[in-house]
This record gives sequence, C-alpha cells and structure tokens, in this order.
Amino acid sequence: MFIAFEGGEGAGKSSRALALAERLRAAGREVVLTHEPGDTRIGRQVRHLVLDPSSAGLDAWAEALLYAADRAEHVSSVVRPALDRGAVVLTDRYVDSSLAYQGVGRGLGVDAVAAVSAFATGGLVPDLTVVLDVPPSIGRSRLAGPADRLEGESDVFHERVRQAFLDAAATAPHRYLVVDATLPTDHLDAVILDRVKEIGLP
Ligand code: TYD
Repeated sequence: MFIAFEGGEGAGKSSRALALAERLRAAGREVVLTHEPGDTRIGRQVRHLVLDPSSAGLDAWAEALLYAADRAEHVSSVVRPALDRGAVVLTDRYVDSSLAYQGVGRGLGVDAVAAVSAFATGGLVPDLTVVLDVPPSIGRSRLAGPADRLEGESDVFHERVRQAFLDAAATAPHRYLVVDATLPTDHLDAVILDRVKEIGLP
C-alpha cells in the first residue's frame, strides 16, 4: 500500500503523514515514512542543489529533471523495496508535486513532466494521494525560517500550484482524497483514516 501526501507550503503534510503512520503502526503494520526531495544519500545532495537560494535562475527543465532524479533514486532504493516486503509506504510529496510546481507553476506542461516522472518511477502510482488544500497566504504564515527557492516564489505562483493539485485530484477522484487543511488536525486525521480504511488498511 502506497500513500502520497501532497499540497502547498505549510499545508501540514508531514504532520498528517506522521499521525497516520503512528495510527497504522499501533495497528501492527510496518510503515515506512519518507519524503521527496532528499530521503536518500544522493537525494540529499539533489535537494540542496535544487532548493538552495544560490541556485537562483536554474533552468526550469533542469529543476524538473533534478526532482525526477531524486525520485528515481527514492523509488528504487526506498519505496519499491518497502512495498515488496509488504510495508505501507507514506511519502510526503511525490509525482504530483512535480506536475504542480514544474508542470504548472513553471509552465513546463503537465503532460511533459508526467512523462519524465513516469520514467523516474517506472510507472509506480500511489494507491491513494491525500491533497492537503490550503490557501497560500495561510500556508506561508505557518512556515518558520528563511524561505527556500520554491517557498520564495510569488503568491500567484503558489495559487497556480494549489489549483494544479486540485485539478489532478479531479481527474481521478477514486485515487485522491482532498481535505481542507485549515480544519482541526483531529478532524483531518479522522477523515484520512476513514479513507485509508476504505482501501483496506489497517
Ligand atoms: P520541503 O522543504 O521538503 O518542503 P515541504 O515541507 O513544503 O514539502 O521542500 C520541498 C520543495 O520542493 C517544496 O517547495 C516543493 C518543491 N518540489 C517541487 O517543486 N517539485 C517536486 O517534484 C517536489 C517533490 C518538490
């Protein structure tokens, strides 16, 4: 079982993924909680390259390919081995982040970026993608520390990214759960767990 958490900056993906992981572990499941970019040794270097403000002006396709390289390494060394041994894998960001940020935000086109990601993943699609939807102004206000290269983009950019996640969800509602990330976390966790139970967990 492979579940992705997606959404804009400050949507609370990592906290909700952690809450679900704890719930599933309490029910006796092996859970691998992971994230993109940067959950592998090579991936951490890619993450630095792509997010560091010193990479200002990086070509948009170079950016997309760096995320895809991180993803290829992540899928082959973390995600597939875990799925193969029967673990539940929860990832904080996956292909839809590339479709939203590079495909729509950077304007490279969703289809072209999807093709690149399909190479990187060998076509591995999550059983469920949870989209935590939050207005960019609220998400931004939740962030701590200096902005990285993507966080530093305009509200217009982040509004396009937000819409792209919603559009992706609308194309395949059976594989998505969209939740309003401004709601109380207890409520969000209950809604997410209900949906996860529907697809056969824990
Ligand atoms: P990160 O610090 O992991 O942020 P977050 O907590 O928001 O996930 O930074 C990841 C950044 O990289 C975030 O701004 C989204 C961006 N990103 C892309 O643009 N494309 C991608 O394919 C992925 C995985 C992330």
